[in-house]
Amino acid sequence: MLDAMLPLDDAALFRPETYAGVRKPLLEASTLPPACYTSEAFYKREVQTIFLKVWNFVGRDDRIPHGGDYFTIEFAGIPVIIVRGKDGEVRAFANTCRHRGALLVEGEGNCRAFRCPYHSWAFDTEGNLIVAPEMEQTKDFRLEDWSLTPVRLERWAGFMFINFDSEAAPLTAHLGDLPEKLASYRFQDMACVRRKEYDLACNWKIYVENAMEAYHIATVHRSTLSRQKGKPSLPQPAAGEYCALYKEHKGSRALLSGDTGFPEMDHLEGQAAAGSWYPLIYPSTMFGCTYDCMWWLELHPMGPARTKLIVGSAFPRSSVERPDFEEVVQRYYKRWDISIPEDNEISELQQRGLASPFAKPGRLAHMEPLVHTFNNWVLDRVLGVAA
Ligand code: FES
Ligand SMILES: [Fe+2]
Repeated sequence: MLDAMLPLDDAALFRPETYAGVRKPLLEASTLPPACYTSEAFYKREVQTIFLKVWNFVGRDDRIPHGGDYFTIEFAGIPVIIVRGKDGEVRAFANTCRHRGALLVEGEGNCRAFRCPYHSWAFDTEGNLIVAPEMEQTKDFRLEDWSLTPVRLERWAGFMFINFDSEAAPLTAHLGDLPEKLASYRFQDMACVRRKEYDLACNWKIYVENAMEAYHIATVHRSTLSRQKGKPSLPQPAAGEYCALYKEHKGSRALLSGDTGFPEMDHLEGQAAAGSWYPLIYPSTMFGCTYDCMWWLELHPMGPARTKLIVGSAFPRSSVERPDFEEVVQRYYKRWDISIPEDNEISELQQRGLASPFAKPGRLAHMEPLVHTFNNWVLDRVLGVAA
C-alpha cells in the first residue's frame, strides 16, 4: 500500500493541534507540514493575517529620487503606485482608478500626472484628482472627493515599507531595536546601485528559510560561499518583528574568497565592526550587512508556489563616488550572481519535492534555529495566536 499523506483539509490546516510538532523546542520539533507551502487556503490565510497587516518592505527611496518619479508593484495581489510627489514626499496609493477602477499605470517612470487609460481621469503625483472629463453634469461631484486611495508608507534610513492596515502600529514599532543595532552601518548614506528581479516557482517561506540558515552552505554553495571562513552563524536576541543571524569573521561577505573590494566602513561599531548581520525583517525581507556594503532579498508573495525575488545592492556613497566603482563592483555582482541562482534553484527543487503526496514534515538540525523561529512566527499569525 502506498504510504502517501492525505492532503490536510481546510479545517485541519487551521487547527493548532496539527502543528503540535512544530511548536516543540528546536531539537524536538518537526518542520511545517508540506501543505503550508502548497495549499491555496493556507496562502490566502497568510495574505489576510500577515501581508495585509504588517509593514512590507518595498525597496529604497533612492529608486525615485526626483519629483514625479514612480514605480508600480503588485504586492500580495494588490496593485500599488509608489511615487515621489512634486513636494519631494514619497507616497503610496492603490493603483486603481477612482472612476471605474482601471489600473492607472504600469511599470515605472516619471510623470506630471497619472492619466487613466480608460476615460482620462488624471491624478497628480500627490494623488489628487485634477481632471475628470465630462463630469460636469454629474450631481454633487467634486474633484477633491475622488483622490487616489492612499496606502500607508513609512521609511527607515531610506528603506520604504508599506502597510495596508490603517490600524497597524507605526513602522518603528515593527522594527523594534533593529535600527539601533544596525545604526553604525549608516544606511542613510548608502546608494542602491543595482536591483535584480527573479520569478521563482516556490513558496515565499521556502526562500526565507533558506536565507536564514547556514546549514545548506556546505552543499548548495560548496564551490562558492563555503570557502568563506569564520565562526558559526548565531541567532541574536531580537526585540521587534524580526530575527537575525550574526557571524563573526574578517573580510567582506559580499565577495568570493580571494577577491578584493572597496574599503571597509570606518564607522562600524560593536558587533558590526567584527562580523556580519543577517536580519530577517518579518515577514519576507532579509538584509545582509557586511563591512563594505549591504544587500537585501525582498520577497513579494504571488501565490502558494510563486514568489518574486528582488535583490538590491547598496554601497556607501563614498565607494559609489570612486572612479573605479564600476570596475570593482563587478566582483560583488559576480558573488551575488553565482550564489543567488544557487539558492533559487534549490528553493524550486524543494517546492517540487514538497508538492508530492509523499512529502511529510521533517526534523531540524541545530543549525536551523531561525527556520524554527520563523515557522512559529508564521503559525502565530495564521492561527490567530498573535495579536
Ligand atoms: S476607469 Fe479610469 S477614467 Fe474611467
Ligand atoms: Fe544560500
